Amino acid sequence: MADLDDVQDGKNYHLDKPHQSAAFKLKGSNALDWGMKNRLARIFNPNDGRTVMLAIDHGYFQGPTTGLERIDISIVPLVPYADALMVTRGTLRSSIPPEISTPVVLRSSGGQSILKELSNELIAVDIEDAVRLNASALAVQVYIGGAHEHQSIGNLTKVVDAGNRHGIPTLGVTGVGKELVRDAKYLGLATRICAEMGAHFVKTYYCEKDFARVAAGCPVPLVIAGGKKLPELEALQMAYEAIHEGAAGVDMGRNIFQCKTPEAMIQAVRAVVHDRETPEKAYDLYLSLGNIPIGR
Ligand code: R5P
Repeated sequence: MADLDDVQDGKNYHLDKPHQSAAFKLKGSNALDWGMKNRLARIFNPNDGRTVMLAIDHGYFQGPTTGLERIDISIVPLVPYADALMVTRGTLRSSIPPEISTPVVLRSSGGQSILKELSNELIAVDIEDAVRLNASALAVQVYIGGAHEHQSIGNLTKVVDAGNRHGIPTLGVTGVGKELVRDAKYLGLATRICAEMGAHFVKTYYCEKDFARVAAGCPVPLVIAGGKKLPELEALQMAYEAIHEGAAGVDMGRNIFQCKTPEAMIQAVRAVVHDRETPEKAYDLYLSLGNIPIGR
């Protein structure tokens, strides 16, 4: 029953203290609405502003990729170590338990395969289905310089608009055609266009020369893809360099799930991204967690 007879006057108004309204620290995100910020804060750790996303969406254009043949067996045990899971709705519904607390970044563009022109994408998820799946963010590929550049930028803007209506941020993913060079000039162009078109965070590749300029020129958080499988120490070095040159984290797939001991590798990547561990120390962690003899 309501406490109508004995309504107490509140006393703890702290009249000497101004209302607490701290700025939202994530790069370029302070002007967003509460729901957007809350979802981004689930993906980017609010303590350090960084993230380790696990990308397992490769099947949307290349089928059963090595390491992703049985997501229910090989990937589900990795999910608790990830700050976010980048995944298609088909895999989410069929293979990922709904009890996970890891936020989902939902692959929202597609419509092509490795047998055809990769940039020929369309929007592949309705915003209502993304809401139904409790997506924390949407991901759209953008092919700057690709055959269907215009169409892919259109996909991004439409998804950003739909997400904005529901407080769901969008990740712009820079798809780079084989004919294009992944240098700072190209990546700077592609990432900046994604941000200017409304992406709330952007995924791109690391480049050894001038990556700091790519990161600085992108006004929202940048995460790097892992790319093709590298020796583990090299993958950790790449993550380390990217973080130190301004990336807000990684969205890594093959360099985690194609390792012999993926659980050890994702923890080593976390050590680099969140603990600022050196690549060498993180590699030692990988070896010890994976029970891998030194020299292998
Ligand atoms: C590619 O477009 C997919 O979206 C992957 O999510 C992306 O390439 C990241 O995975 P990886 O680290 O294997 O490159």
